[in-house]
Amino acid sequence: MAESASTSAAILDIMTFFSEQSQLWRACGIRGLFHYEDVPGMISLLAGRPNSSTFPFESITMKVKPSVAGLDQTTTDDPYTITLENDVLNEAMQYGMTAGVGRFIKWLQEFQTHVHKRAFDGSWGVSVGSGSQDLMHKACVSLVEKDDFVLVETPVYSGTLGFLAALPCSLIEAPADAQGLNPSKLEQILANWETTHPGKPYPKLLYTIPSGSNPTGASIPEERKIEVLKLAKKYNFLVLEDDAYAYLYYGPEGKQARSYFALEPEVNGEMGRVVRFDSFSKVLSSGMRLGYMTAAPQLCAAVNMITSNTNLQPSTLTQIIAYSLLSRWGPEGFLAHCRGVAAFYRSRRDMFERVARKHLEGLAEWVTPVAGMFLYIKLLVHNDGREADSEKIVLGKATSKGVLAVPGTAFMPLKGPSPYLRVSFSLIEEDQADEACRRLREAVLEAKMEAEAEDAVGLGKKN
Ligand SMILES: Cc1ncc(COP(=O)(O)O)c(C=O)c1O
Repeated sequence: MAESASTSAAILDIMTFFSEQSQLWRACGIRGLFHYEDVPGMISLLAGRPNSSTFPFESITMKVKPSVAGLDQTTTDDPYTITLENDVLNEAMQYGMTAGVGRFIKWLQEFQTHVHKRAFDGSWGVSVGSGSQDLMHKACVSLVEKDDFVLVETPVYSGTLGFLAALPCSLIEAPADAQGLNPSKLEQILANWETTHPGKPYPKLLYTIPSGSNPTGASIPEERKIEVLKLAKKYNFLVLEDDAYAYLYYGPEGKQARSYFALEPEVNGEMGRVVRFDSFSKVLSSGMRLGYMTAAPQLCAAVNMITSNTNLQPSTLTQIIAYSLLSRWGPEGFLAHCRGVAAFYRSRRDMFERVARKHLEGLAEWVTPVAGMFLYIKLLVHNDGREADSEKIVLGKATSKGVLAVPGTAFMPLKGPSPYLRVSFSLIEEDQADEACRRLREAVLEAKMEAEAEDAVGLGKKN
C-alpha cells in the first residue's frame, strides 16, 4: 500500500481484485491514440469521424423550466435557454472521448470533492457511462473472476441481479432490514465463512444501495456504514456503492448519512475500497442515459477499456446538455435543484401512504422511506404471523383486479419467496393511487379468505 499525498490514508491496491477477463480487452488501435490529438500543433488524420458539416442540425435550443432556470447563476443573460450551436453543436454531435467529455468530467470531479469532501488527490477518478448501470456492469466484468463470491444486499434492485446472473460468480445474500444492510448479519456470514464455504475464497465484492433502496426504500444510517466499512477492510472486499437515489433524500435536514466514499479514509485509513456509482436518471433525465463512477483510477481505466471496445463512449450530446446546465448552476445550484426534486417525491410518498393506510390498514405494513420512490409493502395474509408468498397474490389476484406491482421475489438474489411487494409512487396521482390501493385491498382480502379456508381444511384433517 502506498501513502496518499493529500491525507495519511493508504491507497488500496485495487489491481489485486481484477479479473483475468479485465486483462483480455485489447486497446482500440484508434481510440488509444486519441490523446495525441491534444498535442499542440498536431494535425490529425486519425479517427474516421464523420464530417459534422453534413449533419442536418443547425442548432439545438432547450428551454429550462423557470422554476429551476436561474439557480445559483449570476452570469448568464438568459437563464431559461440553452442553445447548442456552431463549435459546441459540432462537438455535441460528434464522437468524443471514451471516459466522457473532459470539462464534464472535471465538473463531476469538483462536485464529488464538494459533496464527499475527498480532495482530488490521484486516489480516485471519474468515468461517465450510459447510465450508472452501464458502469456497474463494466466494473463487475472487470472484477468478477470465475468462482468468486459476491455479497449482495438483499432484497436488491433486480437490474443488478440480471447482469450478475451472467457472470461466473455465486451470490451470497446479505440481509437488509428497515435500516438497510444489516452489518451484524453481514458479520455472521463472514465470521462463519470457513465453516459454510470450506476451502472457498472469501467474497470479493459487496453490492449495496445505501439511500432510498430499490426496492425497500430503506436508507442505511452512518453508524451501520461505518461497521460495514470495517468489515470490508477486515475481510478484504470492495464495496460497490450504488447510490442512484442519493439525491432523492427528503428525511430530516442535516441527518443524511455521509457516503461510503466519504467515510472510507476516516473509518479505515485507506482509499480505493469503495467504488461509487451516481446516476443523473432520477434528477436530470433518465432518457439522457448519464451516470458516473467514482473509483480508483485503475478501475476507471479498466471500465473505459470495455467502453472503448463496446459502445465506444457515452453520448456526447447528452453530456454537453447536462454540462451546460450544471456549469450554469454550479454544485450548490444543482443540489438546490435536487432538493426540489426530493421535496416532490416526499409529497408523493405522503399522498401514497395516506391512501395505503386508508385501504390496507391491518392487511399490510411498511416502513416509511426517507429517500427514493418506493414503498416496500409486506402483505399480512395469515393471522398467525406466517408469511405468504406475494407472487401469487400480485401476479394472480392483483393483476386480474387491475393493479400491478412487483412481487418481492424479483428482488431476491436466490429467488426465494417474499411476502413483500414493491410499489412505486413516482408517477401516480392521488385518484389512481386510491383506486390501486382499493384493488390491492380486495386482492389481499381474497388471499386471506383462501388462506383461512385452507387452514380450516388442514385443521379438520388433523382432527
Ligand atoms: C438502484 C438502482 N441502481 C441503478 C439504476 C440504473 O440507473 P441508471 O439509469 O443510471 O442506469 C436504477 C434504476 O432504476 C436503480 O434503481
